[in-house]
Amino acid sequence: MIIKLHKITKEFESECTQLSVSGQQLDLVASNADSLLHATNEPTSVPYGIFSEGMMVGFILFDNEIYKDGYYWILRFMIDERFQGKGYGKLAIEEVIKMLSARVDCKQIRVSHIPHNITANKLYKDLGFAETGELEGNGDIVLAYFM
Ligand SMILES: CC(C)(COP(=O)(O)OP(=O)(O)OC[C@H]1O[C@@H](n2cnc3c(N)ncnc32)[C@H](O)[C@@H]1OP(=O)(O)O)[C@@H](O)C(=O)NCCC(=O)NCCS
Repeated sequence: MIIKLHKITKEFESECTQLSVSGQQLDLVASNADSLLHATNEPTSVPYGIFSEGMMVGFILFDNEIYKDGYYWILRFMIDERFQGKGYGKLAIEEVIKMLSARVDCKQIRVSHIPHNITANKLYKDLGFAETGELEGNGDIVLAYFM
């Protein structure tokens, strides 16, 4: 199975904002419309569609340049509910690690999730992230991947 990440340009915006997680997951991640808006205020982060066989199955927003705190952050990440559990999420994070490993100043990728997001926690740890012990926002768990 192959996935590709493509930057969200104007032509992809409506496909992107139509993707959604399930009703039970709405507290885990902001809507993609909100994330696209957020991206415009954060100059280091770039929104990408996660594509499989030409179809957008998910969305990820991550830093393409070092953030002011010295890390590269994955800020938003979701797979549409229709496509979850098929391996796309893991492949997408692996692709981000591959892309950022080409950047010489990228020593650490960071991500956070709300405490009860067990699926995301396991996914990140399976791919080599480890909890930093730090919390942010409303007790969100911070994980780091060391390059
Ligand atoms: C987290 C998320 C992106 C994972 O995407 P995905 O494509 O479903 O993940 P994968 O198919 O690659 O599966 C990764 C692992 O999670 C497991 N998994 C996926 N969905 C699951 C669920 N609902 N419950 C339990 N385990 C689940 C898979 O079985 C797999 O485990 P394995 O590697 O041991 O087989 C997706 O579930 C999602 O969009 N969740 C809501 C938003 C969210 O939590 N975003 C992350 C914010 S930090």
